[in-house]
Amino acid sequence: MADIRILMVCLGNICRSPMADGILREKLKSKGINAFIDSAGTGAYHIGEHPDQRAVKTAKKYGIDISQLCARQFSVKDFDTFDLIYVMDSSNFDDVLSLARNKNDEEKVKLFLKTAGNTNMDVPDPWYGGMNDFDSVFNLLNDASEKIASLLLKDITVFSKRV
Ligand code: 4NP
Repeated sequence: MADIRILMVCLGNICRSPMADGILREKLKSKGINAFIDSAGTGAYHIGEHPDQRAVKTAKKYGIDISQLCARQFSVKDFDTFDLIYVMDSSNFDDVLSLARNKNDEEKVKLFLKTAGNTNMDVPDPWYGGMNDFDSVFNLLNDASEKIASLLLKDITVFSKRV
C-alpha cells in the first residue's frame, strides 16, 4: 500500500495537473516515498484525452514522460481515495470544495502553491498561451513540488499510519 495518495486537480486535466502529477511523482520517488499520484479536472471537456502536446513536450524536455496520462473528471469518490487533493487555482479550489461532504473532505483540499509557501497562489493556465507559458508553468510547478516533497517527507509517518 502506498505511504501517501495525492490527487492533482486543474480545470481541463490536460495542462497543469498532468505536469504537476509527473513532476511530484518524480520528486517523491527520488526521496524514497512510496506515493500513489493521479490527476483530474473539475471540467469534463477533455475526458479520455492524453495531455496537451505542449505539456507533453515541455515535460519531456525536463526528462518527465506524461504522454500516457489520461484526462478524467474529479469525482466525490476521490475524497475517499486520496489523502491530499492539491488544486492549481482558486477556482478549482471552490469547485472541489463545493463537492466536499464533511470537514474531513474539506481538510484534504489545498492550494498547491500556497502549501509550497508562494505568495502568488494560482498556477496560471497556459492553455491559451505558447510554449514559453508552458515552460514557466513547468518551472513554477517544479519549484513548488520540490518544497512540497520535502514537507511531505517530514510528515510521511502521519499518512503511512492511517487506517
Ligand atoms: P488545464 O488547462 O486546466 O491546465 O488543463 C485547460 C485546458 C483546457 C481548457 C481549459 C483549461 N478548456 O477550456 O478546454
